[in-house]
Amino acid sequence: MTDGSLSPVLELRGIHKQFGSIQVLRDVRLNLYPGEIHALMGQNGAGKSTLIKVLTGVLPSSGGEMFLDGQLIQPHSPLDAQKLGISTVYQEVNLCPNLSVAENVFAGRYPRCGAAQGFRIDWAAVNRRAEELLGRIGLDIDVTRLLSGYSVAVQQMVAIARPCASSRCATRQSRLSSDSARRRCSPPPRGWGRGSPPGRPC
Ligand SMILES: Nc1ncnc2c1ncn2[C@@H]1O[C@H](COP(=O)(O)OP(=O)(O)OP(=O)(O)O)[C@@H](O)[C@H]1O
Ligand SMILES: [Mg+2]
Repeated sequence: MTDGSLSPVLELRGIHKQFGSIQVLRDVRLNLYPGEIHALMGQNGAGKSTLIKVLTGVLPSSGGEMFLDGQLIQPHSPLDAQKLGISTVYQEVNLCPNLSVAENVFAGRYPRCGAAQGFRIDWAAVNRRAEELLGRIGLDIDVTRLLSGYSVAVQQMVAIARPCASSRCATRQSRLSSDSARRRCSPPPRGWGRGSPPGRPC
């Protein structure tokens, strides 16, 4: 529901998907506006998973267009989709229990500092930003503890926070903090010892 003045964040126009001669999706149209939460419901085999897979780059569509913030998008892989800020959180937790909560939130895209952000992982930023992200979804926990020490419910929340760290909101945050290159790296978290580079200041 909108007041008519907002533009959709995401717009699907006429999405089709065929597997051989079987038409699974036919002319799917969907507009998602800022702040909205939708439930996609349908009987078994209706095409819910297929639509999500098309949206997140797991499967190519057979026709139609997708727009994000008004820009045509064509994600060719889940990584492509993640870079655009579109992620899937699956029911089964798919994180690393042997890493800390903060490491799980940022794995693969740790905030860095030094030499144009290319050198060292900024562990203080990892932990601080993980705390901030989780705080936004109402989770106040010690992010330096191993994920395995928390309940499945908490792990699910961490899985939900993770896309926020990789999405466009992270890009916006990094633009806002573009002066952080002048800050020094902090030491790595206690117990860190999995072959990572030492956390000397940059
Ligand atoms: N890779 C594939 N190759 C051929 N047919 C497929 C493929 N993936 C899905 N289908 C078919 O597409 C249709 C839609 O499947 P899909 O998994 O999207 O449905 P769903 O709504 O998610 O169902 P469920 O509620 O059971 O999860 C089904 O008939 C399914 O058999
Ligand atoms: Mg399904």
